[in-house]
Amino acid sequence: FEQQPLRVQINGVAQQLSVEPRVTLLDLLREQLNLNGTKKGCDHGQCGACTVHVDGQRVNSCLTLALTTEGCKVTTIEGMGSVEKLHPMQEAFIKHDGFQCGYCTPGQIMSAVACINEGHANSPDEVREYMSGNICRCGAYANIVEAIMEVKS
Ligand code: FES
Repeated sequence: FEQQPLRVQINGVAQQLSVEPRVTLLDLLREQLNLNGTKKGCDHGQCGACTVHVDGQRVNSCLTLALTTEGCKVTTIEGMGSVEKLHPMQEAFIKHDGFQCGYCTPGQIMSAVACINEGHANSPDEVREYMSGNICRCGAYANIVEAIMEVKS
């Protein structure tokens, strides 16, 4: 497949890339840009491990062709906080034990931040509904909801 140009801002950095049309945003991030914080779970839209923000909206990066992000701003977990200064949602996940193995956590954090930003964190039930696409095999759901409600308050 012929590569095509892609101009996209990723975590605040303007990128000029060459990408094959079949490449997903998930594979672009992980394989071409070494942004491995975004996880590949199912690779077909069912687990939420690959969640990132495109122009502030959450998307499953495994279902998003990279070339469709032309001109967009993409934010991944690497853009949310740093080791020196965690994002408040990351702090809340630690405080409330919102993870065990941690594999789903980047996607959970990206969805959790979008949940608040998009105005869907008005009650635990609303949070549960919004977060239902992010699967956690360790079953940390109750603690994740607690973390989100604390950041919202
Ligand atoms: Fe994208 Fe599972 S890897 S939803």
